[in-house]
Amino acid sequence: MKTRTNNPPIGIFDSGLGGLTVYRELRKILPSENIIYFGDTMRVPYGNKSTESIKIFSSEISQFLLSLGVKMIVVACNTVSSTSLDIIESITKLPVVGVIEPGVKLAIKKSKNKKIIVIGTRATVNSHSYKNKIEENDPTIDVIEKACPLFVPIVEENFVNHKASLLIADEYLGEFKSKDYDTIILGCTHYPLIKNLIKKVLSDINIIDSSKACAGYVKDILTNNNMLSKNDGDGWTDFYVSDKPQNFMELAYRLAGVKICKINIKRF
Ligand code: DGL
Repeated sequence: MKTRTNNPPIGIFDSGLGGLTVYRELRKILPSENIIYFGDTMRVPYGNKSTESIKIFSSEISQFLLSLGVKMIVVACNTVSSTSLDIIESITKLPVVGVIEPGVKLAIKKSKNKKIIVIGTRATVNSHSYKNKIEENDPTIDVIEKACPLFVPIVEENFVNHKASLLIADEYLGEFKSKDYDTIILGCTHYPLIKNLIKKVLSDINIIDSSKACAGYVKDILTNNNMLSKNDGDGWTDFYVSDKPQNFMELAYRLAGVKICKINIKRF
């Protein structure tokens, strides 16, 4: 059996299992890193909760990851990244990476006509985190935001290819067909799984997957700060959740494409 190295892991968390889309991208480009993933499956979804509650949950989870000796914290959740990065940064001097900034940088690079749509949960859209960050970088960009709360259950219930999902996608995004926005940011962990559905409604648009952009950012930070893993081969991953949902294995496989054999439970 391979011995387990004790190089400090990357800590990554999400409101639930959606952050596995970010985990999946991290694993692709940083195979030798050790990683601890935490999903707050007991309290998910965060997207319809108050900022106050999300900050409390985020702080608890970050303290937990820090207690396990992580070398950086990756906030894989758009809702947490939108509302609670400040609270996490206030409790650690380690690098804290969210999904907003990487997604914004990529979207600005891709958009030719400076017209960008942002979709996400209600909490993300109400925080205007993406819009504010885009305007901070380039105030001339026209940003329109739209909450699409039904997209999360579509993924979780495996309705992605169901005809009802196309109707819902059309209801949310149909209004943009006649407008000339050339770029859309997928501002939610689950949305990379419905890229094809979005393409059916908005066929000619740049789709920005924040999870991919975030993984690239993490790699840059580790490289620039000389913090990359010293593992020779592949790193290990420990998975923690606050509750084990019934469809856990199936959902994790669909979201991350990995078979999770062992899961640890951590309740708050
Ligand atoms: N992980 C959340 C996000 O990216 C979606 C699920 C939830 O509402 O908690 O915003």
